[in-house]
Amino acid sequence: MSEFGAACRGEFLLDPAVTFLNHGSFGATPHAVMDAAEGWRRRMEADTTGFIRRIWPSAVAAARHAAAAFLKTDPEGLALVDNATQGANAVLQSLDFAPGDEIAVTTHGYRAVAKTVELVCRRTGAVPRVVALPFDGLTDDLVVAMVGAAIGPRTKLVVVDHITSPTALVLPVARLVAEAKKHGVPILVDGAHAPGQIDLDLDALDADFYVGNAHKWMFAGKGAAILSVAKRWRARIHPTSISHGLGKGLHAEFDWTGTRDVGSWLSIPDGIAFGERYGWGRIRAHNDALCARAAVRIAGAYGTEICGPAGMRAHLAAIRLPVEGPADEARAIALYGALYDRTRIQAPVMAFGDRLWVRISAQIYNDMAQYERLAAVDWRAY
Ligand SMILES: Cc1ncc(COP(=O)(O)O)c(C=O)c1O
Repeated sequence: MSEFGAACRGEFLLDPAVTFLNHGSFGATPHAVMDAAEGWRRRMEADTTGFIRRIWPSAVAAARHAAAAFLKTDPEGLALVDNATQGANAVLQSLDFAPGDEIAVTTHGYRAVAKTVELVCRRTGAVPRVVALPFDGLTDDLVVAMVGAAIGPRTKLVVVDHITSPTALVLPVARLVAEAKKHGVPILVDGAHAPGQIDLDLDALDADFYVGNAHKWMFAGKGAAILSVAKRWRARIHPTSISHGLGKGLHAEFDWTGTRDVGSWLSIPDGIAFGERYGWGRIRAHNDALCARAAVRIAGAYGTEICGPAGMRAHLAAIRLPVEGPADEARAIALYGALYDRTRIQAPVMAFGDRLWVRISAQIYNDMAQYERLAAVDWRAY
């Protein structure tokens, strides 16, 4: 019997009444990691001042070093942040833009980051240059060609997702970083879903900025994420909340942004250790294979298609819903709610490109029987 699926579900706090197919949105933290985070919180409460003055700095540095080793990057350029949104905001709000400058983004980008780009543009007079990537017939070559074609003399930043949120596609970020470099333009990679899901080597990638969550696929407590900053930018990037460390370097600025609960950050090494117990390579192979099999099964049952080619997917897949009518956000929210109310299946429904999609995730606690429940849903009744 496999050690994955139902056999390891008890490692997590997941409600057995819910068919949880949405690791992607917020992750799921194992008991062992929750306990570690709680242990740190209790230590802090026992002597808060002593903890903050004497333990906090070295404990945060240890968590940062563990994350840096896991992501294969120099800890000097790594800052801990609460989530990918915050990391992307730190970059976008730290850079200087002038009227007429362009920030290249794609239509597959995460909406919250796109909104930050919009606000920065409104404040500075810069303009978003939106690359409308298709999802039918998408290939790595096409992504690179289309993003490359959008980079012009006024482009001051390129923003791309490593794994897209609504369409669940792994974009060719190494080639996109090379493309941006060719044009001499910095690139921010939004890797919210990548750490843990993809074997990353951030130093080899050498993006100017890379944000990623530890609370999704690295099993850390919620509110644990990284911002990696290339050496050439380190003095220019500030957190979204300025505190005593201003001007004293990346770590001084990001480690202390005001009093906060640090338990989730400090649980990062425990999340990595949890994955090591099963083997990160084995986890990835299991999740990739399960996701691919489940997506084919569900799309077959619905008589629809999976978004994007198999080669551009990892632990996430978006499958088109067999429903007619409007494909807007309100309908997606209504369908998601109805799915959960009627079946207790937890899977996001998204509107994208005039179609409605359900996105599945595959994590070690999932098995095919759970996806069969989603495959059996009769959407005509919704
Ligand atoms: C591409 C992308 N960026 C950013 C985020 C936001 O992550 P967080 O809520 O941890 O900031 C997500 C969340 O799913 C995402 O898919």
